[in-house]
Amino acid sequence: MNKNTNILSLEKVFFYRREKSTLFKNKITTILKDITFDLEKGKTLGIIGESGSGKSTILGLIQGLLSLEQGKIIINSVNIKTLSNYKLSLNSQIIFQNVSTCFNPRLSVEDILEEPLIIHKIENKRKKIINILDLVELPINVLSRKPKELSGGQLQRINIARSLLLNPKLLLCDEIVSSLDISIQAQVLNTVNMVKDELGMSVIFVSHDVNVTKYMSDEILVLKDGIIYDRFDTINNDYSELKPYTTELTTQPF
Ligand SMILES: Nc1ncnc2c1ncn2[C@@H]1O[C@H](COP(=O)(O)OP(=O)(O)OP(=O)(O)O)[C@@H](O)[C@H]1O
Ligand SMILES: [Mg+2]
Repeated sequence: MNKNTNILSLEKVFFYRREKSTLFKNKITTILKDITFDLEKGKTLGIIGESGSGKSTILGLIQGLLSLEQGKIIINSVNIKTLSNYKLSLNSQIIFQNVSTCFNPRLSVEDILEEPLIIHKIENKRKKIINILDLVELPINVLSRKPKELSGGQLQRINIARSLLLNPKLLLCDEIVSSLDISIQAQVLNTVNMVKDELGMSVIFVSHDVNVTKYMSDEILVLKDGIIYDRFDTINNDYSELKPYTTELTTQPF
């Protein structure tokens, strides 16, 4: 595949954790083994796998929240090892599940949205914020409110809005609708799809809900105990071709 069409490549990524307790201090657990995959520009890649299979660890490494010891991660043709976290946040943004705890409760929505723009010394803050609110379909009057004065769905949209302010090329979504009512989930997912197309982003989408992941993704990676067990296309795939564990995962909740 032509490298230039890829926004992201992972090459032979391994990740280990060392025990913190004195009793098991020398015990090293391999969390990710030989993870290699590409993501094409403009596409959404889903990752499914049981709890503990390593989904969030992959996202944490891409975002630079965990430090990469072995293997290579390339975003937009740049090895992330050469980038500071400050620069990385311009390339890639991560959104998590727990919206109720991810904002400072004392700040207004306006303060929350201004923060990344101040850190990155971006001008025309107010205009940018109003454009982004429009994109995620929230009214301007949310700006003066505090997080506790918003619903879960509205908070997740604020979270998405905040992550989009720096025009990331890559959006990493880790269980972003799991804590939301089923009726709100579809709205938030559609918001992600809409902004993705509007801003020409690529997305990695992690969820326990296989149907949601299929709906959002062009392709899906199946993780099993820290290895890539399978990879399948959600558009043309003949589901009879799937490997046994993939069939199990895609037919039963995990
Ligand atoms: N801070 C940590 N310290 C030690 N081990 C950790 C830590 N975070 C994760 N792990 C371990 O790393 C492995 C992968 O965890 P990870 O969070 O990536 O899984 P996951 O697929 O995202 O699971 P879930 O679906 O439950 O979110 C697990 O065995 C987990 O116990
Ligand atoms: Mg996780």
